[in-house]
Amino acid sequence: MPNTLLDTLTRKALFTLDPETAHHLSILALKTGLVRGAKLPDEPLLRVKLWDLDFPNPLGLAAGYDKNAEVPDAVLGLGFGAVEVGTLTPKAQPGNPKKRLFRLVEDDAVINRMGFNNEGHAAAHVRLTARMKKHKSGIIGVNVGANKDSKDRIEDYVKGIAAFADVASFFTVNISSPNTPGLRDLQARDALDNLLARVLEERDTQTKWVNRKVPILLKIAPDVDEFGLDDICSVAVARGIDGMVVSNTTLDRPARLKCTSVAHEMGGLSGTPIFNKSTIALAKTRKRVGPAMPLIGVGGVNDAISALEKIRAGANLVQFYTGLVYGGVSTVSYMLRIMAAELKDRGVKSLDDIRGESCEDWAKRPLNS
Ligand code: FNR
Repeated sequence: MPNTLLDTLTRKALFTLDPETAHHLSILALKTGLVRGAKLPDEPLLRVKLWDLDFPNPLGLAAGYDKNAEVPDAVLGLGFGAVEVGTLTPKAQPGNPKKRLFRLVEDDAVINRMGFNNEGHAAAHVRLTARMKKHKSGIIGVNVGANKDSKDRIEDYVKGIAAFADVASFFTVNISSPNTPGLRDLQARDALDNLLARVLEERDTQTKWVNRKVPILLKIAPDVDEFGLDDICSVAVARGIDGMVVSNTTLDRPARLKCTSVAHEMGGLSGTPIFNKSTIALAKTRKRVGPAMPLIGVGGVNDAISALEKIRAGANLVQFYTGLVYGGVSTVSYMLRIMAAELKDRGVKSLDDIRGESCEDWAKRPLNS
């Protein structure tokens, strides 16, 4: 739900436009400073330390909004504790033909089949290097993927690690987009094992140059079965991956969707209707990888309670994207205030105290519920 009059008006205006035009305009508004976040009080209760990174709060912007690293600082200015740019592929590519982005307004959801439209590694790297020269603060994850026409998809991921090791706070290896044919096949045991071996090897090579071991996370789909998830988690643990992002969009169409005329569009569904499915996948992942592996919970978060529920289900950090489309720019600061108040009410000292509280309950549920 929008939180301020400005959010309501902005949303009304943007929703009269086609979704992709609205997206471009919102990037422009952030770039030019037309839209800015409110100053946030530092809230020790919400801080999260993971790897060598100090997250001011657990809320991050999920990949897909700032694909080309055009506005990471403006996004952080909205209150996000981190932003994940990308997915970036080695070469620029146009993505799928338009129209490829659809709103399901009554469902607070989106279907997209963008297909990794992006300007490629070089353009994004120039931007991230330029910002780093100005200041080094702010946590920026770089989400890497493979070009649609690539002859060696694994090599594309390796190139991503090599290209951004000097500017990425962390990496996300995205093998879960439903919009690049065959990409999700990399989630199969042997392919995944090979992929992780090669990206981790490249990261270790880069560590010598950048004097920092950049954490690598694996982003998975919620459309997996129990056996598929067993394989993914056992390979991720055996290879020593630094964390997982659960989850990407779903190809499923829950029966309860109200916007039936749009629901048939091909692509990945995001937003409120995927909260349960992605949270079940998150909890089942937590059960498999144990308490030590950092997990980012994504899918259907749209308010403080749903963000806290991801943490209760086992997440260390939370990301969202569709919730921002429907809630507007003040969503993040509003959520952070309520999260802090809620934790104080409960007499909790840090997010560690609630992590995993509801993991067992979520993990018991079937993946397709
Ligand atoms: C995405 N998402 C996404 N994920 C990713 O890893 N790489 C990408 O390029 C994109 N692109 C993208 C475009 C659009 C328009 C949307 C709506 C989503 C998926 C996103 O990061 C997230 O995993 C899902 O959207 C679920 O979270 P929300 O949107 O329900 O909060």
